[in-house]
Amino acid sequence: MAFVPTERLHLGAEAEVWAGTWMGQDAVRKLRRPRKWRHPDLDHRLGHRRMMSESRLLIRLKRCGVRVPAILDLDPENGRMILERMPGLPLIEVLRDPTQSTEFISTVLHNTGALIRRLHREAITHGDLSTNNILVDEYGTASLIDFGLAAVDYEVERFGIDLHVIDEILGASHPEHEGAIDTLLDGYTAEETLLGAPPEQSGGAVPTAGEVLKRLDDVRSRVRYHG
Ligand SMILES: Nc1ncnc2c1ncn2[C@@H]1O[C@H](COP(=O)(O)OP(=O)(O)OP(=O)(O)O)[C@@H](O)[C@H]1O
Ligand SMILES: [Mg+2]
Repeated sequence: MAFVPTERLHLGAEAEVWAGTWMGQDAVRKLRRPRKWRHPDLDHRLGHRRMMSESRLLIRLKRCGVRVPAILDLDPENGRMILERMPGLPLIEVLRDPTQSTEFISTVLHNTGALIRRLHREAITHGDLSTNNILVDEYGTASLIDFGLAAVDYEVERFGIDLHVIDEILGASHPEHEGAIDTLLDGYTAEETLLGAPPEQSGGAVPTAGEVLKRLDDVRSRVRYHG
């Protein structure tokens, strides 16, 4: 195998991720971990399907110029993926780092919002927009990873939910960055202003930034009302 591991980056319930090199290039190896409580056949089938869906969407997004890792190798049978290593640290760590300037944090949040809009314009929702799945480099440039729960969609609901997930996380885990979500949403809207209305996709019209923000408000009041 051409992957040479150097350090383990992550050991979670679903995946083990190692940094290393692939044919001399910085790469990561993502290995799906079996869910012991699930029947092995079902677990294998679900894992296989998720990895295929994740790869398909990554290829599509890379082609559209959205900052996501390239797929270098894929072995869905063994639950193994080799991905381009994206530079930087998870957003959660950047937000927790007290040495970062307010200006830098603003830039990062704005760029993150713009990147999420770029994703949504391709009719793709992420499904797990936590601050662990957004990586930020030293220039404040953001990339998105972990597309295991992502999906192609045209209904505004899942787009609104994507923003609601990051909204809740910013509010709950990073209350010291007051107004963080507003800066992110400014970036989301600014990207649409920059690029114009989203192009029609093969499956239909993609919700506009305005429609998604309106849905975010609906989701917020639903959550407030029902707890
Ligand atoms: N392409 C990549 N470049 C750099 N770091 C990565 C890359 N992919 C994953 N990582 C690192 O590994 C961590 C876990 O990867 P990922 O989010 O894809 O797994 P996961 O599905 O969330 O795993 P689990 O659900 O078990 O927590 C990320 O938060 C990130 O720190
Ligand atoms: Mg993750």
